[in-house]
Formats: sequence, structure tokens, C-alpha cells
Amino acid sequence: MDCQAGNLTGVRGAGKLSLWPRDRAVYSRPLRTTHLHPTKTALHTSSNIAGLQPSATVAVAALARELRAQGRDIVDLSAGEPDFDTPAFIRSAAIHAIEHGATRYAAAPGIQPLREAIARDLARRTGREIDPAGVVVTAGAKQAIFNACFVLFGPGDRVLFPSPYWTSYPDIVRLARAEPVPVAGDPDRGYKVTPALLDAASDDRTRGLILNSPCNPTGAVYTREELAAIYRWAAGRGVWIISDEIYSRVCFTQDTAPGLLELPEASLDRAVIVDGASKTFAMTGWRIGFSYSSAELSRHMAALQSHITTSAATPSQYAALAAYRAEGEHAAELRAMSETFRRRRDHVVSLFQELLPGTEFVYPDGAFYLFFRVDGFFRDGVNSAVELCRKLIEEAGVALVPGAAFGDDRFVRLSFAASEDTLTEGIRRIARTLAPGSAGGTD
Ligand SMILES: Cc1ncc(COP(=O)(O)O)c(C=O)c1O
Repeated sequence: MDCQAGNLTGVRGAGKLSLWPRDRAVYSRPLRTTHLHPTKTALHTSSNIAGLQPSATVAVAALARELRAQGRDIVDLSAGEPDFDTPAFIRSAAIHAIEHGATRYAAAPGIQPLREAIARDLARRTGREIDPAGVVVTAGAKQAIFNACFVLFGPGDRVLFPSPYWTSYPDIVRLARAEPVPVAGDPDRGYKVTPALLDAASDDRTRGLILNSPCNPTGAVYTREELAAIYRWAAGRGVWIISDEIYSRVCFTQDTAPGLLELPEASLDRAVIVDGASKTFAMTGWRIGFSYSSAELSRHMAALQSHITTSAATPSQYAALAAYRAEGEHAAELRAMSETFRRRRDHVVSLFQELLPGTEFVYPDGAFYLFFRVDGFFRDGVNSAVELCRKLIEEAGVALVPGAAFGDDRFVRLSFAASEDTLTEGIRRIARTLAPGSAGGTD
């Protein structure tokens, strides 16, 4: 049952991977293709996209929107994005930039003032000198991860990542023609990995490790000591670390989660930092992320994206510039979002303890997700979290993401990027459906 390193068929509790594409289809409509000249010829796609599936998390959100549009009363707790609007001072900066001509191509690695503002922000957080030449602004953190994987890895390489993992890692690694290797995290440590677990999953083809802290979907945060131990392991084996720190500022144990660059020993010879504006500044739709790496690696990644997207959208870069430069009341407004997530985390945890007592979950120290275990509720023909989520959306009108999207289908991810009232209603409905005897009330 356990997830075997190097074996993506080991999605825990989901049986064979063959279940995976079939069930992803539950959440995504078949593609409708309009042919100018209808043809019966089958479309033969290249091996570049062999096995590629649409993002499961995006697909669930789309289904929830569609059901709502049909008039269904849906409590959507599937979102992987803050429910806040982008703060007004950021929106105004973009409008001002557009009205003053920021509507043309930007340089591939980003506009210089933004690269400098990001470098200053990183320096403040890490106490390190940060070279703006190492910053590449990307169309979302997703593109930064793609750039790093595509530039660093290729056929024959194996790339590890702790499991449960963010849904796009395996697909991004495969697009680079490398082999994705999920490494089951330790249940007693919030499913975080240790050097021993990584070592057991490694061989002489292991070239990379994608680390994500705070983690989507578990909310686990690696301590500085844990990061240091993993860094030492990676450096000793000559393994690159791509440190995905996109939730760095949505952290409930301290202002910002410990990051790789805070380790005095961390060298850019073996590390790429990924972060961005999406989660921290409620800017998911603006598509702004960045990587920070050695100036040499940055040049390769900028060259890659110069042929793909050219650059992140110019007005969005000016919006992000306002966010990264924020001071005083604007900085306080940004911090307040993280505070709100902390209050919601407490609310969700206490509701779970009250309404679904005994349900196992990873206590979230960061990000905005509760990853809870549901295999104890498998009965009456429901044998997976995918099926359970289908039941919950159909019978209770609650949209959640099944753990299969993250490599462990004994779990479900609930997003607390929603108001406290919405969370209360959603969790009551879940409790009424899963544990009707225990609580939930009738209201
Ligand atoms: C762990 C993780 N990394 C990266 C991303 C991508 O972020 P962006 O929207 O900036 O591309 C996400 C988005 O959900 C995420 O959860």
C-alpha cells in the first residue's frame, strides 16, 4: 500500500496509476475540438507530452464553477488561491503603469526595478547579499519550476520530491524527460522527508530534489535544522535542490517560513529558490513568480523563457513591483492576509476536532490547506478519495480535492482560503455526510 520511491503507480490507496487518468476525467470535461475541415484522422501527439494530464486541482475548481453556474449551491473549498482581491494599491500601480506606456515587451528576465526589488526583499528576509542578476521574473512560480527543471534535468536523470507533493511536479519533471521520483514522507513528521528517506530513494542517476515548504497540500513547514540536514545530504551527493517557497509568507510559526537561503552553507552552485507574488499578495491571476539562482544559471533560464513566453506580462510586473516595495500601511495590509489565514486555520482545526473527532490530519503550520485522512470513511461502494470527493460534491455540494492529485488517495485537501462562515458551512456538510451520527447539526 505504501508509496514506493520511484514508482508513481504507488499513489497510496489509489491502486494502480491506471485509476489516475480515468478519475481525473471525472473532473474534466472531454476536450471539444472545432474542426474547420472535419476529419476522422486520429490526432497523434508527440512523445513530449506522453502521460500528460490537465492539472487536477484546476479541474476541480472548474467543475465547482460549472455546477454553480447551473444553479447548484456549492461550497467550494478546493481553491488553491487566496480568496482576497489583490490589494487596491497594487491594482492602482498596474493601471498607472498601463496608462504610462508599460504595454510593450519586457526583457526576458524581467524589468530591472522588479528584479532589484525582489533581490532587496530576499536580502531582508535572509540576511544575505542578493545579486539582482540571479533573479528571473517568470509567468508564475510554475514557470520558474519548469525553467529550472528543463534547464537542469534531462533524459536519464531522476528527480525526487517528498510525497504528498504539489500536483504539477511529476508532470513538469516528465516534460523535461527526466524521471519523477516521489519519496513518501514520514507520517510522524507531517509527511516531511529526512536525509535517510531521500537516501533510500536515491541512486547514481538522482540529480535533483524539489522541496516545498510550507507544503501544498499538507501545510507542513520544514525547520531550519531540517532544511540544513537535507541541504547537507544533497550537497554530499551532488544533487540540485529546487526550493519551492511560494507559501513562504503564509506561515503560522514565524513571519516567514525558514528558507534555504537562510542557511549560511547554502550555495547557489546547487540550489534554485522559487517564490512569487501569487499566494502572498493575492495575485494568482497576474502570473508573477521568480527564480533566484546563480547569475550563470539565470542566463540559461532567461534564454529558455525568451523562446516560450518572452517574459512575464509587463503590466503585471509593475503591479508586483508595488507589492515588493510595499512599506508602512501597505506592508501591514499584506501581512494582515497571512494573519487571516492563521485565524482560519485555528477555526478549521477546532471545527474538525468538534465535528469529525478522531479524523487524522496534518496540523498546518503554513499555506492554507488542511490535508485530512478519509480512508476510514470508505464504505458503500466508495473506495477512494476520488470517489469520496465525487460523493461530497454531488450529495453535500462541497468541492474538495482528492489526495490522488497529490500522490496519496487516502487523504483529501480542504482549502481554507474562504471566509469563516463558508468554512463552517462546508465542514458541517462534510461531517453530516461522512459521520452523520457524530455532529453537524441540522442547520
Ligand atoms: C507548491 C506550489 N508551487 C507552485 C505553485 C505555482 O504558483 P503560481 O501560481 O505562481 O504559478 C503553486 C500553486 O498552486 C503551488 O501550490
